[in-house]
Amino acid sequence: MRQGLLTAVICCALLGFGAVAVPALEIVYPSHGVFVARSDFLIIRGGKAPVLEAMTVTINGAKSELLDLSSPEYRAAFADFLILQPEWDKGKNAISVDAYIGGKVVANAVADIYFLGNDPTATTPKGYKPFVMHTPEKEGLCQPCHNMKPDKVQLSAESADKNPCASCHKRLIDAPYVHGPAGVFQCVACHDPASKPARYQISKSPAELCAECHFDKVEAYKKNKFVHGPVGVGLCLLCHDPHASSQPAQLLAPTNTLCAGCHDTVVKKGDHVVRGIFGQGHPLAAAVDPSDPGKSLTCGSCHDPHGGQGQALFRRGLTSRMQLCSICHKK
Ligand code: HEC
Ligand code: HEC
Ligand code: HEC
Ligand code: HEC
Ligand code: HEC
Ligand code: HEC
Ligand code: HEC
Ligand code: HEC
Repeated sequence: MRQGLLTAVICCALLGFGAVAVPALEIVYPSHGVFVARSDFLIIRGGKAPVLEAMTVTINGAKSELLDLSSPEYRAAFADFLILQPEWDKGKNAISVDAYIGGKVVANAVADIYFLGNDPTATTPKGYKPFVMHTPEKEGLCQPCHNMKPDKVQLSAESADKNPCASCHKRLIDAPYVHGPAGVFQCVACHDPASKPARYQISKSPAELCAECHFDKVEAYKKNKFVHGPVGVGLCLLCHDPHASSQPAQLLAPTNTLCAGCHDTVVKKGDHVVRGIFGQGHPLAAAVDPSDPGKSLTCGSCHDPHGGQGQALFRRGLTSRMQLCSICHKK
């Protein structure tokens, strides 16, 4: 992977001295043999000379239209870079890029990558490595146009137009529910700008990070007599996105879907304890939660996702079913 990058850099340097023009073409991100969790970008880089006029990108057999990179406006803004927002298939993706000059294919680059699909329970695939962007070599490629050596003042800037991380990562927080510090670009509250060899690694384990700012809540979760399985082992990220999501509390999925991911037997009709006892199953979803009219009825209306005083983790520290029923059913 690293070798590929070096080849490209050396190649450009040689061209500066008027060497024979071999069209350079490289898939920078995600590069061959890596796996990625998110689907944000596909970053391709051509050479400076000869200028590649157009490209087509094929992902798992689906080919893009011809993408024209030759206009002066395009060259002025992006030079030899092409940045796309692809839609990956879950699992393996075969990427093939054709580059054109004068309507003819002059270069091709391929990469096999693995897309986990933003699923924190997905296991990392054998034979694929994680992708690491913020190494000195890769950052060097972006430095001509992006600020890759931000100082402390710049890193603490709270708006997208001032914070240097925003120029590439603003889509990370482009969702309806944004986590406090990510929304104001305090990325370095969690990502260490001095980590080595790659920068911006998280400075502590995710659970330790969460506890730093949500100290009271995390203490309260731990004080529960019964701590919910994944909470007890610090796997907050199995349910929460640290940046943003389409759900309140930055949940990775609507509450019922989230819970069903690990408790599918409960959701399959008949298996939830509440059934058996009352003859017919209690609804597990409804438009309104009578105990909290702003919300809909979900698993979280009866169970506390972090823990409780009884084994069934009822909300509000309740331990008896009767008490639980009475928060919604008045008689
Ligand atoms: C020749 C200049 C140039 C170089 C070199 C360059 N970029 Fe960019 N990039 C731009 C411009 C211009 C934008 C648009 C900025 C904006 O919209 O604010 C951009 C935007 C982006 C975006 C955001 C896309 C979006 O709309 O969300 C990403 C991601 C990105 N660049 C990644 C990279 C990476 C990674 C590198 C290095 C491997 C790199 N760029 C190198 C010029 C460049
Ligand atoms: C030139 C564009 C660019 C800039 C500027 C940038 N990043 Fe990135 N960063 C990327 C790309 C591309 C990736 C890989 C794709 C992804 O995960 O979104 C990445 C990945 C990361 C990762 C995952 C680990 C890794 O190295 O792959 C972290 C963490 C990160 N960036 C944090 C930051 C922070 C914090 C800032 C601001 C100080 C920042 N980035 C600025 C382009 C950029
Ligand atoms: C509350 C802490 C926190 C804040 C604030 C935060 N991150 Fe993260 N970020 C994380 C954690 C935790 C991970 C997962 C790292 C891991 O699993 O190794 C992560 C992962 C990432 C990744 C890798 C891709 C992914 O989604 O897993 C990128 C890129 C990233 N962060 C960029 C940013 C940027 C840019 C900002 C600022 C806008 C930011 N982060 C703010 C905690 C945070
Ligand atoms: C740098 C401080 C900081 C860190 C670290 C941090 N948070 Fe937050 N978090 C905040 C702030 C600020 C808010 C918004 C104010 C609020 O609602 O409390 C917030 C809000 C939240 C909310 C939404 C609260 C609500 O009522 O909707 C959740 C959920 C959350 N954080 C989870 C986490 C998780 C999980 C982690 C660890 C990955 C984490 N936070 C790490 C500062 C932080
Ligand atoms: C099994 C999934 C799950 C796990 C694991 C989990 N949470 Fe939550 N969390 C939720 C749900 C669901 C909500 C929304 C509760 C609501 O809407 O009343 C929530 C809400 C929150 C809130 C908002 C305030 C509150 O208490 O309602 C914070 C803060 C929070 N979680 C932090 C954390 C931290 C820190 C961890 C790791 C120690 C963690 N969560 C682990 C599912 C989870
Ligand atoms: C990442 C997997 C995971 C997710 C997501 C998850 N749980 Fe759990 N849950 C567990 C594990 C592990 C246990 C402990 C199992 C055990 O001890 O038998 C547990 C235990 C429970 C228990 C106690 C069961 C008992 O009798 O001991 C309840 C109730 C529960 N979860 C409800 C929920 C609800 C509600 C949600 C959604 C907010 C949820 N879970 C999401 C993994 C998960
Ligand atoms: C109307 C209230 C209510 C709702 C909604 C609800 N539960 Fe329960 N749940 C209960 C009660 C009551 C028990 C039985 C506790 C006991 O054994 O005393 C229970 C037991 C459980 C248990 C432990 C025993 C078992 O049946 O395996 C799990 C796990 C569980 N629920 C998960 C869920 C999930 C997941 C959802 C959402 C799909 C959900 N619950 C929705 C009230 C509810
Ligand atoms: C968080 C609120 C909440 C709690 C707690 C709760 N329920 Fe319900 N219950 C509902 C809602 C909402 C409905 C559906 C009402 C509707 O659809 O009109 C419902 C419906 C029912 C029904 C009628 C079933 C049907 O399909 O019409 C019974 C019986 C019932 N609940 C019993 C109980 C019992 C027993 C408990 C305690 C173990 C309990 N509920 C706890 C909210 C709750």
